Amino acid sequence: MGIEIEHPTVVLSKVAVSKTHGEESPYFAGWKAYDKDPYDEFCNPSGIIQMGLAENQVSIDLLEEYLEKHAEATDNGIRTSEFRENALFQDYHGLQSFRNALAGFMEQIRGGRAKFNPDRIVITAGATAANELLTFILADPGDALLIPTPYYPGFDRDLRWRTGVNIVPVHCDSSNDFDITPEALEAAYREAESKNIKVRGMLITNPSNPLGITIKRSTLEDILDFVTRKNIHLVSDEIFSGSAFSSEDFVSVAEIVEAQNYEDSERVHIVYSLSKDLGLPGFRVGAIYSYNDKVVTTARRMSSFTLISSQTQHLLALMLSDKSFTENYIKTNRRRLKKRYQMIVDGLKKVGIKCLKGNAGLFCWVNMSSFLEEPTKEQELALWKLIVHEVKLNISPGSSCHCSEPGWFRVCFANMSEETLEVALRRMHAFMKRRY
Ligand SMILES: Cc1ncc(COP(=O)(O)O)c(C=O)c1O
Repeated sequence: MGIEIEHPTVVLSKVAVSKTHGEESPYFAGWKAYDKDPYDEFCNPSGIIQMGLAENQVSIDLLEEYLEKHAEATDNGIRTSEFRENALFQDYHGLQSFRNALAGFMEQIRGGRAKFNPDRIVITAGATAANELLTFILADPGDALLIPTPYYPGFDRDLRWRTGVNIVPVHCDSSNDFDITPEALEAAYREAESKNIKVRGMLITNPSNPLGITIKRSTLEDILDFVTRKNIHLVSDEIFSGSAFSSEDFVSVAEIVEAQNYEDSERVHIVYSLSKDLGLPGFRVGAIYSYNDKVVTTARRMSSFTLISSQTQHLLALMLSDKSFTENYIKTNRRRLKKRYQMIVDGLKKVGIKCLKGNAGLFCWVNMSSFLEEPTKEQELALWKLIVHEVKLNISPGSSCHCSEPGWFRVCFANMSEETLEVALRRMHAFMKRRY
């Protein structure tokens, strides 16, 4: 148990005392409120329902089924002749069998339209570590990465805290369904220049968290054109690629790079993880895929700080190389997510709340701007507080995702049962009837 000291006499590092950990955002405040009063159908039916967590539980039964049938995967090399080999394995290249299986899985999710070379995969402890590691490699303290808004609130911590790198937002809005335009890219770049900040790269999330949409091919081409003209890097966080409701809906930057014959591909890096697509955030399995040899080598060296255990690699190497399992998993998971999405969109529509038309993700982007007394961030936060404390739903206000337009909220739907989602929709219905 820690002891809170009001006026510490021993000094900590600048990183330790800096506020760039981002935990003071309403995004995390909502989680804390949930932790104090979590909903449980039987033990706490009036508690807060957690709709602020992009977690995928809709297909976990398929993983359990696989593990029941495959004792060799759960043995994990512990009770077998491979024990010694596995226990001593700590090579930062990771198990070759795991990298092969992960490359195959990434190809399968993209409908076979992109190829991944296992030797370009660097294994990391989740996408969190992958994004930070890339930031360390691509930028120096004081430099910046451009990120389209709204963006995942965790980036404020992951990309800035320990690296000392800044984020310069590329503002997108509802006038074009939050598309990333060449004008918005130029404006953000100019803003950084006016502050004398050197832009070293751009990071996109595709499909987008929090919008729940995939980025269009033409937009990706514009972005690639922009980073090439500015001679900066492009990081594409594709952690939600398997959540696109159909494989055809999702265009990976890898497809564009291949179509362009790998021209200028040394500036392109992809981040992936199994936290969302396989619903395994606790396993901490992520990866960097870079087309740049130097980045691959450096990232591998740095990955010593964030390796994943050989036991986990062993299990996933078996699971992901079982093509009949992965095919069924990907297809079923996409279908179930789409059904959930439809359920929440229809439920909210019945009470007069509209969502951005989505085609991916574990969340939808909900427009409640017409319920604000004034279009301000303060009013958005006032409504958010009512929803957390009165309706008892923890959703994330758009301002915590740096959305410049007040009144939007990210609502997660895949971290609960259908029954709990129905309870949440009933609560929202009652709230709207009471107030509007
Ligand atoms: C866009 C994005 N990147 C990275 C992460 C972190 O993922 P991981 O659990 O693999 O570290 C998240 C988690 O929500 C995310 O939404």
